[in-house]
Amino acid sequence: MHETPFCMTVIATLKRRVRAVFRPETTRHRNCILPEKNLRFGGVHFLDDEAFLSAGERDVRKLQQWCGLNAQSAVLDIGCGTGRLAIGLTSVLGAVRNYRGIDVNETAIDWCSRFITPQHPAFHFHRINIRNERYNPQGQNISAEFRLPFEDASFDVIHLYSVFSHMRSADVRAYLQEFRRLLTPAGFVFLTAFVETDVPDEQENPADYRRQWKGALHCVRFASSFFTRLVEEAHLRIVRHSHNSETDGQSAFVLQPH
Ligand SMILES: C[S@@+](CC[C@H](N)C(=O)[O-])C[C@H]1O[C@@H](n2cnc3c(N)ncnc32)[C@H](O)[C@@H]1O
Repeated sequence: MHETPFCMTVIATLKRRVRAVFRPETTRHRNCILPEKNLRFGGVHFLDDEAFLSAGERDVRKLQQWCGLNAQSAVLDIGCGTGRLAIGLTSVLGAVRNYRGIDVNETAIDWCSRFITPQHPAFHFHRINIRNERYNPQGQNISAEFRLPFEDASFDVIHLYSVFSHMRSADVRAYLQEFRRLLTPAGFVFLTAFVETDVPDEQENPADYRRQWKGALHCVRFASSFFTRLVEEAHLRIVRHSHNSETDGQSAFVLQPH
């Protein structure tokens, strides 16, 4: 008998629930439900509960200042992980008009759907099965028809923290083009990436750069001119840039439609 994808999903869910009985999945800090440490992304930076929560809150305040985020905004959070930004949003703003979290990692989306959505119904999470050698090696290669399941011009703010830092340029190119379709005319993309001058266009785990990188796509670094070209080819433009200001020395970029 063939297992249907539905069966496999049910089995995977049951396995996770059984594991959860022996290993707690949540912890509470300042009245927020957070993922347990082993379910967090971002290595050592967010292991401490206060560091995890306050980093999400800090990112929300940056989006308020730089991208006009407010409670009426529709937010798309690509590579949402286990909800660092989403939890920050619920802590700082209570809610937004619409929040969609996307990730290739099934465990992360399952956690967010079970522990964030029930308390915050404007927050929805979707798993997409795109291949990423580090986070979803069995996924499907991105195709020319790549589309996220949302209407044109449906988001005011698109956020990606430490996501392009783990993606190759072919995927980055496809995502940027999709962001142009999904952004409202006055919308913003906020992203972080490793971008430097006087380096090769694209390099995986460059030696002697910031720290020792381990495993596939731990650090993908782009040359500034190459990255700017990717942005411009998608009919977006860089309106703000802060060099080395983010985790592990990534830079922050704010983009808007041309
Ligand atoms: C370093 S974690 C950052 C998580 C979160 N943004 C944060 O700041 O806490 C990178 C995240 O990007 C996700 N990711 C990697 N490739 C992706 C892709 N092609 N599409 C969507 N998410 C992806 C990973 O599964 C992981 O959750």
